Amino acid sequence: MKNQVAQSINKYLANVGVNYIKLHNLHWNVIGKDFKPVHEYLESLYDSFAEVLDEVAELLKMHDQVPAASLKEYLALADIEELGAKEVYSSEVLQIVLADLQLLKAQAEAIRAEAEDDYSVVAMMEDHLANYNKSIWFVKAMLK
Ligand SMILES: [Fe+2]
Repeated sequence: MKNQVAQSINKYLANVGVNYIKLHNLHWNVIGKDFKPVHEYLESLYDSFAEVLDEVAELLKMHDQVPAASLKEYLALADIEELGAKEVYSSEVLQIVLADLQLLKAQAEAIRAEAEDDYSVVAMMEDHLANYNKSIWFVKAMLK
């Protein structure tokens, strides 16, 4: 695995880790008339990100790389910004979730291109991209 690809995947891992916690924050602190569906949807999203976190770290291990593995390392590497603990209206929650999904999708696209013929990386990123497309559709539909 090229060093640049390993660094990009580690950064992606860090963003997934930060997003995993951030989705819990929004799941707990969402308010408004759409509380129940948004609260429940965010639970399904963070459950899927738990699997993504594990498989991305294991992808790095399979390539003899060392995945970032602490919250401190994730915060140092990530582009996704954490939120403090406060109540957030559901429409704003969905805008935040949408922006973070779009950032992760762009990173997965860049890694897929950088990886070239590294088929295990390409296959995983294509799987993630299909999932981002579906999640982005869901969130945009909820925002209408
Ligand atoms: Fe919960």
